[in-house]
This record gives sequence, C-alpha cells and structure tokens, in this order.
Amino acid sequence: MKIGLLHSLLRKDEKLLLEAFARARIEPVMLDDRRIILDFTTRPDLDILLERSINHSRALHALRLFESVGVRCVNNSEVARICGDKLLTSVALCEHGVPQPEVRVAFTEASALEAIEELGYPVVLKPAVGSWGRLLSKINDRDAAETVLEHKTVLGSYHHSVFYIQQYVEKHGRDIRSFVVGDECIAAIYRDSDHWITNTARGARASKCPVSNAIAELSLAAAAAVGGGIVAVDLFENGDGLLVNEVNYTMEFKNSIDTTGVDIPDKIVAHVAREARA
Ligand SMILES: Nc1ncnc2c1ncn2[C@@H]1O[C@H](COP(=O)(O)OP(=O)(O)O)[C@@H](O)[C@H]1O
Ligand SMILES: [Mg+2]
Repeated sequence: MKIGLLHSLLRKDEKLLLEAFARARIEPVMLDDRRIILDFTTRPDLDILLERSINHSRALHALRLFESVGVRCVNNSEVARICGDKLLTSVALCEHGVPQPEVRVAFTEASALEAIEELGYPVVLKPAVGSWGRLLSKINDRDAAETVLEHKTVLGSYHHSVFYIQQYVEKHGRDIRSFVVGDECIAAIYRDSDHWITNTARGARASKCPVSNAIAELSLAAAAAVGGGIVAVDLFENGDGLLVNEVNYTMEFKNSIDTTGVDIPDKIVAHVAREARA
C-alpha cells in the first residue's frame, strides 16, 4: 500500500502521525510542498494521499493537481476549498440544513455597516480565509463598527474586501471542538478561556468533552455538508442546542490526545489505510 503524505514543516501533529504510520507498519511517501514540482501529467505511484500542509493555498492547489492525475486525496480538494473559506462553509452548512450562528455577507463599508446594525451588537467580523483566531473582531457598538470597517477598507488587503459578519454567540467562556474521521465522531474537547477567542493556539485550556449523541450527530452532519473526510468541527452551545461555527480540514490534534484518551493519529492512519484499500 502506497500512502503519500503531503506536508510542509513537520509539526508535532505530523510527527505523531508518522509514529502512528510506523505502528501500522506503513512507510508513507513523503511529499514536501516546499520541494514538489507538479507537471499536470505525471501520475505519482500512490494509492492515496493524506494532506497535511500548513499553507491553505498550497494544499488547495496541490490537491487539485494530484486529483487531476488520478490520485485520491484525503481530504479532497473540494473539502479544502470549502473549509478554507468561512463563507463557502456557511453556504454548505445552510444548504444541508446544519444550524449555524446568523451570518451576513456584504462587499462594501456601507452595506457591511447596515448588515451589522440589522444583526444587532455584538457581532464578529472575520476574514473569510484565516485561522488560529487571527484578525477576528468582536464589535460591540456602532463606533467600533465604523472604525473596523474603515480600517479594513483603507488598510486591508484583498482578503478583507469581503465582509463576513456573524452574530456573537454568548458561549459562557467555552466552545467545543469535535473530531470527525470518516463516518465517526471520535472525540471532543471543551476549550475554555477568559478571552472570547477560545483557540488553543491562543491559550485556551482543553478538557475532555463527552461525545453526546447531539455532538456526534451535528459533527457528522457538518462534516458531510463540506464533503466528509477528516475534519475538526467548532461548536457553540446555544441554550439547549448546538451551532456549528466552522469546519477545519487540516485538523490539529496534538493537544487533544491525552485530554480525550483517544489515539487520534492512529484513527487517522487506520482511516487512510482503509480508504487506500477501497
Ligand atoms: N460568532 C461568534 N460568537 C462567539 N465567539 C466566536 C464567534 N466567532 C468566533 N468566536 C470565537 O473565536 C474563535 C475563533 O473563531 P473561528 O471562527 O473558529 O476562526 P478560526 O478559523 O480563526 O479558528 C472561536 O473558537 C470562538 O471562541
Ligand atoms: Mg476555529
């Protein structure tokens, strides 16, 4: 069985995956996205490719090229395309009837302000493409809205010309991150923080969250909406229900193995090996 591993710098997560591959007696074919040259015709001798790039645009384009020469990829380029863009993720969730916070999209400063006023404060403004909690703004009033919109318009790059505006969800200091591998929701963590941004990359504390039926069902529905595969789902507790905030496609899991007691890299490797045989 030949499994390719598309990677950049090997982080702790990729090192844990390599250990899991070794335990499964599989030696992956290492494909460093800083070195590969793709020519649109050569088909690499691979049964499947596992994508672990750090860089979204490299991952997206490399996956598309590998697929075009007939290599199956996990995740596939369509999942990468949708998950890499919060706006496309919201569209997919909406089309599949998966509950999410209220969202508005606008393309000018004036229409964005109108959308914010219509949603009501506070709102969260996010770059459609981004991660690790970077460049998110919680906007509590009209003064802040005007300021942030002006800054984005005057100083922002192309990426800030689409205004993705979400209703702020009062989540009482935590959100939930669940992990989906294939057709199973394998684990979940709570992420607690004194800050409203609860990414572990921003210092939130992780603790075990039991995978209830509601969490499993919604996580699998969110994964299916974006095209399935290996994804991590951000969930907000909202009254007695749950909302899907976003879906991540090159999921990080290093802080969640000891916390959950689930060997996430083993599950990933087993899934990829199963898919390679299919
Ligand atoms: N609408 C919101 N309401 C409340 N908290 C939010 C909202 N959007 C984001 N957050 C907080 O910010 C964190 C990062 O936002 P997220 O949309 O997941 O972006 P990223 O891709 O950077 O992780 C979330 O985990 C959550 O703690
Ligand atoms: Mg997130």
